[in-house]
Amino acid sequence: MNLKGKVALITGASSGIGKGVAIALAEKGVKVGLAARRINELKSIEDEIVSKGGEARSIVMDVVDPLSVENGVKSLKSHFGGIDILINNAGLMQASDVDTFRTDEWNTMVDVNIKGVLNATASVLPELIIQHSGHIINLSSIAGRKLFKGLSVYCASKFFVAAFSDITRMEIGKKHNIRVTSIQPGAVDTNLYDHISDKGYKEGMENLRGQMTFLTPNDIAGSIIYALEAPDHLDVSELFLLPTDQEW
Ligand SMILES: NC(=O)c1ccc[n+]([C@@H]2O[C@H](COP(=O)([O-])OP(=O)(O)OC[C@H]3O[C@@H](n4cnc5c(N)ncnc54)[C@H](OP(=O)(O)O)[C@@H]3O)[C@@H](O)[C@H]2O)c1
Repeated sequence: MNLKGKVALITGASSGIGKGVAIALAEKGVKVGLAARRINELKSIEDEIVSKGGEARSIVMDVVDPLSVENGVKSLKSHFGGIDILINNAGLMQASDVDTFRTDEWNTMVDVNIKGVLNATASVLPELIIQHSGHIINLSSIAGRKLFKGLSVYCASKFFVAAFSDITRMEIGKKHNIRVTSIQPGAVDTNLYDHISDKGYKEGMENLRGQMTFLTPNDIAGSIIYALEAPDHLDVSELFLLPTDQEW
């Protein structure tokens, strides 16, 4: 896909990977819809993109709420005149053992990491089907391939994303000329660990920083651009991106 002038919706664009992807896509001439709940963060990213000559629009969106997603997609389409790319990136990680029954955290991960992907896909895909083109990128994780103690619900949510991605690809690739990619990173330097309430698991995650050189959001952005810019007949269906010194 030639990216110049295309329109992308990026969920979870207010920080980390989503922010890095938004800035990198805008530099490629993509008109980016920046979606998340924190409007101040979105506005400052929008200002940064616009000051460099790019095009961006901030959209307050809670991916858990189908109406919020639907309204955000409508406003992006009317502002930029369409939509070509969906990047399902919003997500969070919490960690705890199952027998500590942090059911609120389980539910939040299911709501954001699973239902959020479904809500955004359901809002954007009809438009891509009508235009018979487009690309959906889903952020799974190495936790969508391998299992880690403490991450039962997070791993399950990322296995969901990987499975949903590939079956969606099978169903809509040939039929509607729409590509689907699952991006599965290892450790990336972002705020992902901020939501971990279990002290032991939080410390364990933070200690990883001393054991390897984390990937950057820009590393992930580069892989997404690679998948988007691949020739039309090529669907980069899954990409695993790991720090070279990540031993697991
Ligand atoms: N960092 C890693 O090591 C790593 C590795 C593999 C995969 N991933 C995946 O990469 C994605 C991005 O994570 P990150 O590492 O960049 O973490 P991050 O910096 O914490 O970013 C998470 C983003 O998700 C958004 N978000 C959370 N709940 C939301 C909701 N209900 N509605 C809309 N947006 C919501 C947040 O925005 P608001 O709070 O403003 O809404 C934020 O922009 C996640 O899916 C994560 O699982 C990360």
